[in-house]
Amino acid sequence: MPDRSSPIGIFDSGIGGLTVYRRLLELLPNERFVYLGDTARYPYGPRSAEIVKRFAVQGARFLLDFDVKLLVVACNTASSVALDTLREVSSTPVVGVILPGARMASRVTKSGRIGVIGTVGTIRSGAYKREISVLAKGTEIYEVPCPLFVPLAEEGFFDGEIPEMVAHYYLDGLKEKGIDTLVLGCTHYPLLKRVISRVMGNRVYLVDSAVAAAEETADLLSLKGIASPERSGEDILYVTDAPERFRTVSKLFMGYPIDNVVKIEPFL
Ligand code: DGL
Repeated sequence: MPDRSSPIGIFDSGIGGLTVYRRLLELLPNERFVYLGDTARYPYGPRSAEIVKRFAVQGARFLLDFDVKLLVVACNTASSVALDTLREVSSTPVVGVILPGARMASRVTKSGRIGVIGTVGTIRSGAYKREISVLAKGTEIYEVPCPLFVPLAEEGFFDGEIPEMVAHYYLDGLKEKGIDTLVLGCTHYPLLKRVISRVMGNRVYLVDSAVAAAEETADLLSLKGIASPERSGEDILYVTDAPERFRTVSKLFMGYPIDNVVKIEPFL
């Protein structure tokens, strides 16, 4: 049975979940985390809902073996299609990133016109649209998949001509809709915040789903009375392939390279 000193599990398709991990570390310094990035099967974004569900269940089972007190699904694509299934198989509470982001967007919008960007899978699932329509009735929601933002972020193209061109390609149409809030519905997009904000204009509020999810995780821990009073050990980050690349690219996501990366056998 997990208790207050048990770790929090974080599941992602690969490295992008580090944006969520980073926020969780800032907000919850007393907690211990076990991260799993399914790098052998990354990316999840272009895959079918059925396959993403299957992958997510395998990842969750691995993390549940650590007796985690909470399972955070950092990957937007997995959260958008697999959350119900994960809650069925999980003995521990599951936090996704969709509802927190949707809540934050519904809270901040004044015009009632909200944009959502994410992977092809996240947008196709309609998950953000469903949640926002319930939370803020009558809201107009415009969704656009932006798949190229993911490799751009991992290659360190945060700024400059290339990401700017891609951002215009995806976002110019959205800008014309007159939205005042844009949900960054993918783990990687916070790294491109500057360029996205430049294209959308500074009157459009960018909702960082990693920040929203970390805040909800903190709330849930205190609500359930399971927040840890002190750190009970070091974090471990597991990957299913290419730990060296994870270590190198982690610097872009965290500001420093992560060393304690352990490769496990892929669930193939
Ligand atoms: N983690 C994914 C997400 O947030 C992006 C990367 C992928 O496609 O696997 O949707």
